[in-house]
Amino acid sequence: MSEPRIIVALDYDSLPQALGLVDRIDPARCRLKVGKQLFTRSGPAAVTTLVERGFEVFLDLKFHDIPNTVANACRAATDLGVWMVNIHAQGGRRMMEAAREAVGDEGPRLIAVTVLTSLGTEDLVELGMVGSPGDVVLRLAAVAEAAGMDGVVCSPREIAELRRQRAAGFLLITPGIRPAAAGLGDQRRVMTPAEAVAAGSSFLVIGRPITAAPDPMAALAAIEGELE
Ligand code: C5P
Repeated sequence: MSEPRIIVALDYDSLPQALGLVDRIDPARCRLKVGKQLFTRSGPAAVTTLVERGFEVFLDLKFHDIPNTVANACRAATDLGVWMVNIHAQGGRRMMEAAREAVGDEGPRLIAVTVLTSLGTEDLVELGMVGSPGDVVLRLAAVAEAAGMDGVVCSPREIAELRRQRAAGFLLITPGIRPAAAGLGDQRRVMTPAEAVAAGSSFLVIGRPITAAPDPMAALAAIEGELE
C-alpha cells in the first residue's frame, strides 16, 4: 500500500465525538489533524490518545508569535509525539528559524502556513497585502524554505508553480479539497483530491467532506477510490 496522502481534519467539539469516526479507521489509511477547535476543548490528551492508537497526528495550531514563544510551543508539540506541526510564515524568518532549531531534525515535520485558503484577493487588499493570494503564497514559501521549513500549507491552485520553484522534497500540504460532488463551504480556492495529487500535492487535508458527510466512512472510501 502506498503512503496515505489523506489527512482527515478532526474538527469536532470533543474527543469522544472525534473517536466516533477514528474508532472505525485503520491508521494505515490516513493521518489525522487536530486543530484549534478540538485542541481548545480537549487539549493535549486528544493528541496523545490518537498517537497511542497508532495514528500520525498533524497538530494544526498555526503558531504565530515572537520567536522564543513559538520555539517553546514547537518543543511542546514535539514532546506530544506529533508527526507534523505548523506555524505561520507571516511570523517571519527569525520565528521560523527558531522553530526549526527547537524541533531539530528528528522531531515532527515543520510546516509553514502561507495564505489561508479562505482568503481571496479582496481580503488581502483590505489587509494591505500586495499581490494576489498566489503571489503572496509564492513569496512566503520562498522565505519558508530558506528558513528551513519542511514544506508549506497552500491552496491546490498554487501547487504547480510551487513545484517549479521549490526543492523536490519540499512538502505541499493542501486543504481546500472538495470531492467533485461536495459544496464549497467557506473555502475559495479548491480542487478535487485527484486533481490536487496530479498537480503535485504531498498531502490532502480534508475535513467537512468526510466529517460532515451522512456516512463519513463511505465518504473516506469514495475519496480513496477517486485517488486510485
Ligand atoms: O472542512 P475543510 O475540508 O474545509 O477543512 C479544512 C481544514 O484545513 C480545516 O481544519 C482548516 O482549519 C484547515 N486549513 C485550511 N486552510 C489553511 C490551513 C488549514 O483550511 N490554509
